[in-house]
Amino acid sequence: MEFITAVGRPEAVKTDAIIVGVHAGGELTPSARALDRACSGAINAAVKSGDMTGKRGAFLPLLGLKGVAAPRVLLTGLGSKDDFNERAFSDAVRSSLKAFNGAAKKVAVAALDWQVKGRDAEWQACNVAIAARETAFRTDELKSKREPVTQGAETVAVLSKTRSAPSERGLRYGAAISNGMELAKRLGNLPPNICTPSFLADEARQMAKKWKLDVEVLETKQMEALKMGSFLSVARGSEQPPRLIVLKYKGAAKGAPIVLVGKGITFDSGGISIKPGAAMDEMKFDMCGAASVLGTLRALAELKLKINVVGVVAACENMPSGAAVKPGDIVTSMSGQTIEILNTDAEGRLILCDALTYSERFKPSAVINIATLTGACVVALGGVNSGLFSNDDALANQLMAASRESGDLAWRMPLDEDYQEQLKSNFADMANIGTPGAGAVIAACFLARFTKAYPWAHLDIAGTAWKGGAAKGATGRPVPLLTQFLIDRASR
Ligand code: BES
Ligand code: MN
Ligand code: ZN
Repeated sequence: MEFITAVGRPEAVKTDAIIVGVHAGGELTPSARALDRACSGAINAAVKSGDMTGKRGAFLPLLGLKGVAAPRVLLTGLGSKDDFNERAFSDAVRSSLKAFNGAAKKVAVAALDWQVKGRDAEWQACNVAIAARETAFRTDELKSKREPVTQGAETVAVLSKTRSAPSERGLRYGAAISNGMELAKRLGNLPPNICTPSFLADEARQMAKKWKLDVEVLETKQMEALKMGSFLSVARGSEQPPRLIVLKYKGAAKGAPIVLVGKGITFDSGGISIKPGAAMDEMKFDMCGAASVLGTLRALAELKLKINVVGVVAACENMPSGAAVKPGDIVTSMSGQTIEILNTDAEGRLILCDALTYSERFKPSAVINIATLTGACVVALGGVNSGLFSNDDALANQLMAASRESGDLAWRMPLDEDYQEQLKSNFADMANIGTPGAGAVIAACFLARFTKAYPWAHLDIAGTAWKGGAAKGATGRPVPLLTQFLIDRASR
């Protein structure tokens, strides 16, 4: 799918179809009005007849309007002007593009007319691209017979009166973010017998080749030499060897890098503290943090942002076996701190703590880890907001700003010292689980003990990285948030 800005009057633009908005009560947007004038009132007539109410989700195709170059005009209902928000904008793009069922290859959308409070042409164009790409995404690479795809639009044009740099920039951002999200979704959706730690390492190698990134993959021996006793304790129960993947993007001659650290548990059975059977298949999504790191690097490389970023992916399986780590085992992390493992299902923090200590070597300006870390975060925030924890207010505020700009929501959670007591162990420096209560905070407090050397933030994406139920699948979040954050950092 290609994105362009089409410059000109709506009635003159050469395209297979043009989408124009109508608000509730039949109020035409400026482009709809222009078309109406060109075709001497056919659009107003459609509104008067009651065939287009302007309600959200309503649409009406009109064919062969006289005086209009495009053979198809799609009127799309935008609902009340006052309530027209970000979500209504993206819904309108998605539903109207789907309405063509592949009949139109070139589609122009007059979406710069669709005013969302506080949003500009760059935001509008970016979100046209993201919403359009969502209509074309499929997960069918493992179906023996693929559904005959009703081909979506090949070219989507944002209609603009004049040449618009913000619109062009927005389309470029939107396409790159979509590419990153699609990579994250694909990796997330792949089954755990295919998407193993070594598979993720191969994906990273391919990415490095294509985008000219530096890549290094550490194996068990090297992790042993680094004394990553905590990470290795999780990997021990599995037949699949662990991998620590390091991908480096260098877009600036100088400047300390931002390090993105992803939790890459390619399957989380719980280990000896085994999980109940219901929905256990969804624990293949426990590598969505890792997938978001790769997806963000993909977006960043495409945008050629002037910034340095290191992606670190800690990948292994969490499985029970005779060799597996047991409740009560005490391990020594790379930092030297000892950990009493009271529950082998609290494994994400055990692999991340060593990856976070390892990240010190990059002398980072900030480290952000992304992890499907706790069921408690799903209880607290559901599927709407990711949990954001940080030891640095400036970094947290930048991430919150990126969250608002991208619509990829996050909510700041506490990290007060008082919670740390819950991690006390009688036999080691700390336990890997706390006393009951505030599970998402306790997991973050555990990580905070390993991140004192740099400004750090942790995104708990347990509720936002995938959807269960009928629409089961990875969401590609938080690639939009992270990419926006890097766009902002690169331009300051
Ligand atoms: N990967 C899970 C967290 C998770 C659970 C994400 C359900 C999404 C849905 C994590 O490794 C885990 O098992 N966490 C435990 C921690 C507990 C043992 C302290 C949890 O949340 O139950
Ligand atoms: Mn677990
Ligand atoms: Zn897990």
